[in-house]
Amino acid sequence: MAVDLLLGLQWGDEGKGKIVDVLTKDYNIIARFQGGPNAGHTLEFDGIKHVLHTIPSGIFHKDALNIVGNGVVIDPVIFKRELDQLEKFNLDIKNILYISRKAHLILPTHRLLDAASEASKGKAKIGSTLKGIGPTYMDKTGRNGIRVGDLELDNWKDKYRALANKHVAMIDFYAAEIEYDLDELETEFFASLKVLKSLTFIDSEEFIYQAQKDGKTILAEGAQGSLLDIDFGTYPFVTSSNTTAAGACTGLGVAPNQIGEVYGIFKAYTTRVGSGPFPTELFDEDGETMGRVGNEFGATTGRPRRCGWLDLVALKYAVQINGVTQLMMMKGDVLSGFKKLKICTAYKYKGETITHLPYNIEEHNVSPIYTEIGGWQEDLTKMTDASQLPKGLNDYVDFLEKELEVPIKIVSVGPDRTQTIHR
Ligand code: IMP
Repeated sequence: MAVDLLLGLQWGDEGKGKIVDVLTKDYNIIARFQGGPNAGHTLEFDGIKHVLHTIPSGIFHKDALNIVGNGVVIDPVIFKRELDQLEKFNLDIKNILYISRKAHLILPTHRLLDAASEASKGKAKIGSTLKGIGPTYMDKTGRNGIRVGDLELDNWKDKYRALANKHVAMIDFYAAEIEYDLDELETEFFASLKVLKSLTFIDSEEFIYQAQKDGKTILAEGAQGSLLDIDFGTYPFVTSSNTTAAGACTGLGVAPNQIGEVYGIFKAYTTRVGSGPFPTELFDEDGETMGRVGNEFGATTGRPRRCGWLDLVALKYAVQINGVTQLMMMKGDVLSGFKKLKICTAYKYKGETITHLPYNIEEHNVSPIYTEIGGWQEDLTKMTDASQLPKGLNDYVDFLEKELEVPIKIVSVGPDRTQTIHR
């Protein structure tokens, strides 16, 4: 059985959690392959809202097995908090959530380093979620990191101490005014590690290989979005992992020829949280409406998200990089009520009109060129079938499908599991 992928195609927050939750019934295994608790995957059902950070979004389906892959970075403190919140559901966690021994650990000092690094950058800061993601991946590629499997060894605490001491010296080097009590942070960290150690650790690449052979269906769940990819995103305003399709191969140990469907998720408009270029960003009433109606606040940090029209140039790039085979358009309901909608179909770049993403998409370099299309006024949130969708929305979707050359199979019309229209 091939492994299917689910990826965000913009700057994250596209609604991946909801779609994984909707799709889970078709899969035996849901596996996260990159990122860490910088993600906030929101799921809503039965009138309750859940936000998951590290735990895969299949956790609420009793028949699904969830895997945290080797490409993920885990903060045991946040992980424990997530588990605490799941307690009321009486889940058999040890048997439905497995963790790769090769996943790296976020240490308390990684979080402090993130804060010190950001503080030292002043106006050039990335707008990181400050969860320690960048410093942890730096230690991974620098070959200094501590992995989940190390916890099964005797001497890992020596390695921890040496690394934490080095981090403290680095924090001093930044000379940023970061106040912290390492003893307190470590007490919390080691207490949380006990909980992590009570879970099931696996060699996930081997496990997934065998599961494939046994005919199990597997969905790889991405975090963040393609434009935050460390290689292909708007560097340096990106996260520190490969959020694109190739990241699923390295983050789970799945061979490229084993990838099946690539589901690409995008919002009907665009949002971004944190710093960095955003060509279609709006600073007017339209942007304010998108933010208010779409409740655009970061699921992890609560920060208001920047909003703007759909950027088809960037979306095409993401579809291309990932080899997307099916698209899913989220938050269609948020665009109800606009008389006219704008879609960025090209950029003005150094006096020329271009339709690809150039090296630098900062404001002084590119400006969006829009195609205008009529809107729709109907409230979509109670609609359950494609036949009920208004003409304006169908025209919008048809236009995008034609441009992207990939079918849009799902239109989401609200946060709940049930507000999902299949086309
Ligand atoms: P970091 O990955 O926390 O260091 O953040 C780097 C950049 O990616 C910042 O602009 C964050 O706002 C953004 N980012 C990280 N994770 C997410 C996410 O899950 N959704 C949206 N933006 C994110």
